Amino acid sequence: MNIYDIIEKKKHGQELTKEEINYFVDGYTKGEIPDYQISALLMAICLKNLNLDETVNLANAMLNSGDLVDLSKIKGIKVDKHSTGGVGDTTSLVLGPLVASAGLVFAKMSGRGLGHTGGTLDKLESIPGMRIDLQMDEFINNSNKIGISIIGQTADITPADKKLYALRDSTATVDNISLIASSIMSKKLAVGADALVLDVKVGSGAFMKDVESATKLSEIMVSLGKKFNHKTKALITSMDEPLGFAVGNSLEVIEAINTLKGQGPQDLRQLCLALGSKLLLMSNFADNEDEAKEILETNIRNGKAFEKFKEFVKAQGGDISYIDDTSKFKLSKYKVEIVSKDEGYVKKIDALLIGEIARDLGAGRITKESKIDLGAGIILNKKIDDFVKKGELLATFYTDKEKDINLQVENIYKAYEIGEKNKETHKLIYKEID
Ligand code: URA
Ligand code: CA
Repeated sequence: MNIYDIIEKKKHGQELTKEEINYFVDGYTKGEIPDYQISALLMAICLKNLNLDETVNLANAMLNSGDLVDLSKIKGIKVDKHSTGGVGDTTSLVLGPLVASAGLVFAKMSGRGLGHTGGTLDKLESIPGMRIDLQMDEFINNSNKIGISIIGQTADITPADKKLYALRDSTATVDNISLIASSIMSKKLAVGADALVLDVKVGSGAFMKDVESATKLSEIMVSLGKKFNHKTKALITSMDEPLGFAVGNSLEVIEAINTLKGQGPQDLRQLCLALGSKLLLMSNFADNEDEAKEILETNIRNGKAFEKFKEFVKAQGGDISYIDDTSKFKLSKYKVEIVSKDEGYVKKIDALLIGEIARDLGAGRITKESKIDLGAGIILNKKIDDFVKKGELLATFYTDKEKDINLQVENIYKAYEIGEKNKETHKLIYKEID
């Protein structure tokens, strides 16, 4: 077997065998096959696609390229969640404590933000003292003791995906559904929770721009989960505007806390209840959707979900006085309020642009090495379908970058489209794939 023949075969649209897929993944991970050959192969895959068997074999090869996390020492039903990436997506910080308060175990490995999307680890680090680099023993102990732990993914998990993803990123070969599905699912399967819910985002701020391609991606990921014997469901949800009001690290932690107390934005709450219900149903903790939602809503009302968040923060070294009094979070130096120049309904908010503005205000990274300003970000005072008067507050941002303020105010105006009332009200959850 050799890599040249494998490239040639895919160039002609032929199916690759399991052995051929293992051969190139293994050879590339070990550095025995050079970037230029794998680049050519990735491009051939983008043009000719992989079928489901090939996608399963690719996920399997990547999954087995490094360490597997053994969750068997954790008692109870372990659940996991993945979002394909959005703007202001604070879901994990709410969903984790919420389902843990209902008795599930949320033992999760999360990522950092890159580009216009945020990451759970960065958000958690805005809580002073919070450690996200726990050793495996501590991760397991905390999961057993309080039902929730969130840590960073170690370098030894799916090294093949890390290398391939970096190469895809620089060769315009990211946006193939089989490559995305196998990349995401290899990481999820290496941890291997009992039940997994996927939040597949669609819209201006997401990878998938339409429901049709999001459906295809979801179907492949759900099939992959099932092939490897993990209960998996997907929700296709809107990223046509940022989720909630807050975009930025400290701001989103505050928003998560408010939501856990029942005082957060409606869309974030609705999404967390929907994802959480799926996890309860897959775990047989509820018989139907209504019952599942009721369990979760009760735990918001009676304070159990919020208490669980505090236990989680405390267990990972975070200062819980910030959780009790969110005014302690230090935001960036300049607070800028942007008022509407027009009167009307908010028709659209460009989620991608809002994500880029937040990044440039300091909340995100331009490169992997950039340092982020945890206190920077945006509050959307108005969201899609809201009515706004001339002179009324549209958005507020926080930054330390004084010289960029005028430019970013202009960008906020560009992100909002104000006019006639939309004919159809904005939809948050499009459909469910299982
Ligand atoms: N996220 C991933 O982890 N992999 C992809 O290929 C795309 C998004
Ligand atoms: Ca948010």
